[in-house]
Amino acid sequence: MEALTRRQLLMGGSAAVLHLAVARPLRAHPAIPQFRCPLPLPPVLQPIRGDSVADYYEVVQREASIEIIPGMRTRIWGYDGIFPGPTIEARRGRAAVVTHTNGLGIPTVAHLHGGVTRPQSDGFPTDTVAPGGTRTYEYDNVGRPATLWYHDHSWRGSGRNLYMGLAGLYLLKEDSEIEGRLPNGAYDIPLMLHDRAFTADGQLDYDHDGHHGATGRVMLVNGAPWPVLEVAARKYRFRILNASNATAVRLALSTHHPLIQIGSDQGLLAAPVVLSTIGLAMAERVEIVVDFSVYPLGTRVVLENRRGDGPLRSVMRFDVVRSARDDSSVPEHLSLVEPLDRSQAVRTRTFEFGGKPTLGVLPGVQWGINGEPFDPTRVDANPRLDEIELWRFVNRGFVGRSMLHPVHTHLAPFQVLSRNGRAPLRQERGWKDTVTIEDGEDVEVIIRWSGHKGRYLLHCHNLEHEDHSMMARVDVV
Ligand code: C2O
Ligand code: CU
Ligand code: CU
Repeated sequence: MEALTRRQLLMGGSAAVLHLAVARPLRAHPAIPQFRCPLPLPPVLQPIRGDSVADYYEVVQREASIEIIPGMRTRIWGYDGIFPGPTIEARRGRAAVVTHTNGLGIPTVAHLHGGVTRPQSDGFPTDTVAPGGTRTYEYDNVGRPATLWYHDHSWRGSGRNLYMGLAGLYLLKEDSEIEGRLPNGAYDIPLMLHDRAFTADGQLDYDHDGHHGATGRVMLVNGAPWPVLEVAARKYRFRILNASNATAVRLALSTHHPLIQIGSDQGLLAAPVVLSTIGLAMAERVEIVVDFSVYPLGTRVVLENRRGDGPLRSVMRFDVVRSARDDSSVPEHLSLVEPLDRSQAVRTRTFEFGGKPTLGVLPGVQWGINGEPFDPTRVDANPRLDEIELWRFVNRGFVGRSMLHPVHTHLAPFQVLSRNGRAPLRQERGWKDTVTIEDGEDVEVIIRWSGHKGRYLLHCHNLEHEDHSMMARVDVV
């Protein structure tokens, strides 16, 4: 409760305090108890029809009033009016054609994060759909089976639009022997994390903090504050996405048992990795297996965020409530990940992520890549189709504040080659599309630019950095 109460405000009485209160409405916020709501699962979107090559979906982006905080109504902007949006379950090799209708009062553009998508369907930040308009996006689903997500991508609007709710999961699946051996069906559960701030009357309280990033005081999982999942004493697979605007987390179990990581942004790793904590920056995904059979019935296991303080130290809770049979396993070999070698790269490009303070009434920042803010008409990199390149991402830091940049490439996934001259972290093995660059870090990734020619993007996934304007145009030629 760091916000001023009305009484404190009146007693304080100084013009400065009152001015602040007028400029930024009272930042009182509702008290929300932890571990009361059951974990919701976003509904799976049903296609309106299908033919021999594709399934066809319709989504309406609209405002709605929903219950996020028990007993309160919150106005959101949601895909089909829900938050998170409905989950799209796609099959590898079978296209999904999604028609979005913009029923909101602002221009929007939908992007499939992690998809190998033709440029006209990729959701370039200036390809917006006007209020009342409609656009059809075609997804070929030719990439690796993975936990993808779709979200708004409008330039200077994506931070607010996602904060208001425009994000949903897109699970690209494939049947295989390995998938069948891992925990599946009801034991394969997506967890979409968002931190949010609310006003006292329960409305989403978006504050971009001078373009440093919109954070929150409440952790939502699948749209519910600090929920509880009742689990059986057996293995579960969790697909975890950090869908926060600007908050990185470090996940761990309160029991200090290790996490078994089986996948990252772009699907299964070559082999499982055992970790005590897993860092997850904005837009990154990780898939883990947790075996609850090691706990006696009645045990409560908190999924913690070791990067958070106070209530944000917790994410959600698992209550072990029943026994169950379990014939799932975690195979030693999970998938084929052909390692790319630096000798295969035909060229190296370096991208420096930094910002400079802007002048004006309110202090702000202009973020850029290689010193340049985004210009949709300027091509910043032009890799040739099917060539392999080495991209080096450098975080130059920002005076007085530590700043993390999750760097994301559209179209082409990559492998991390080095972090500050050393081997990559164990959790970032395998194929990724977003990589964390902490203050002062220097990370090399290797990318094969295959799929399509056309106009794509490289950007920071702190949404407020992205909006102002840490993005670069990448044309595959
Ligand atoms: Cu998650 Cu450019 O996107
Ligand atoms: Cu993306
Ligand atoms: Cu950034």
